[in-house]
Amino acid sequence: MSETMQTHPLVIGEVGPGCKKVDPIVVADNVTRTFGGLKAVDVVHVEIPRNAITALIGPNGAGKTTFFNLLTGFDKPNTGTWSFEGHSLARVPAFRVARKGMVRTFQLTKSLGRLSVLQNMLLGATKQPGENIFTALIKPLWRGREQDITAKAEDLLDRFKLLEKSSDYAASLSGGQRKLLEMARALMSDPVLIMLDEPMAGVNPALTQSLLGHVKQLKADGMSVLFVEHDMHMVRHISDWVIVMAEGRVVAEGPPDQVMNDPAVIDAYLGAHHDTDLGEMTGTIPVAAAPETATATATVPTETTAAETEREVEK
Ligand SMILES: Nc1ncnc2c1ncn2[C@@H]1O[C@H](COP(=O)(O)OP(=O)(O)O)[C@@H](O)[C@H]1O
Ligand SMILES: [Mg+2]
Repeated sequence: MSETMQTHPLVIGEVGPGCKKVDPIVVADNVTRTFGGLKAVDVVHVEIPRNAITALIGPNGAGKTTFFNLLTGFDKPNTGTWSFEGHSLARVPAFRVARKGMVRTFQLTKSLGRLSVLQNMLLGATKQPGENIFTALIKPLWRGREQDITAKAEDLLDRFKLLEKSSDYAASLSGGQRKLLEMARALMSDPVLIMLDEPMAGVNPALTQSLLGHVKQLKADGMSVLFVEHDMHMVRHISDWVIVMAEGRVVAEGPPDQVMNDPAVIDAYLGAHHDTDLGEMTGTIPVAAAPETATATATVPTETTAAETEREVEK
């Protein structure tokens, strides 16, 4: 990289690990989480830009999922503070984080196999008056709302091409369809920030194009997206910003063309086969080419996670 200062429209000052954003939606400081002697997360400072698609990449075990868990209240840090839309979220439990508009999906899908696809969707709705003991007693108050929620669920299922499956058990869906269901369900609560943990893992190539389109649509609809992904095609193709984690720390960040061409990042974090598609940086890569190239460029083959996903859902 040259000696000249790197700037970017999303950033105040110089581009680099921990750089300040013009309009951050999440700001985290000194977030650490240790497991035994291992410091799984050690983030000194990071800011996630608003209304942008940010990829969080790094080798297996870098702490990406743990960082997601901490930000969304599914795990508790040893130290640290963070804010979402300017309000502190440290020590706020997961269900309340979701109600504030920060919703995540899981690396291993969490759809409930013995519920129907539609029932899974309805579980994603928040602020249902029926949840409140007093309004639950006054049926006319919630009956209309229940119809609204069902209509909204069906709209989303239609958008994600799952409507005809709406009365099937979620367990009967393919791995990729479960990923779509989980994303659709996350949208039931009208999130401001949606966090996707490996949305492409285990997804059939036939569904990758639509998944990419859905993620881009989230941004077009005004949302902010933070996603963890090993598929470097997807990262290049749709990200406005890339943050690289290794051994718990943020070691690099910047626009995809810059970060993913940084020799240090390539050597250390993206693997030796990374250069196979360096020429295809323009965001016009035909996604149909993904099956071979995904394996060729991913840091870690996604088969393991796909298999884990299958096992998880069978439980
Ligand atoms: N619940 C846990 N107990 C013990 N160690 C864990 C736990 N969760 C994660 N780790 C460890 O923390 C590190 C980061 O894991 P993780 O956040 O899953 O990484 P990534 O998502 O980047 O692959 C790994 O070394 C992992 O083994
Ligand atoms: Mg992970």
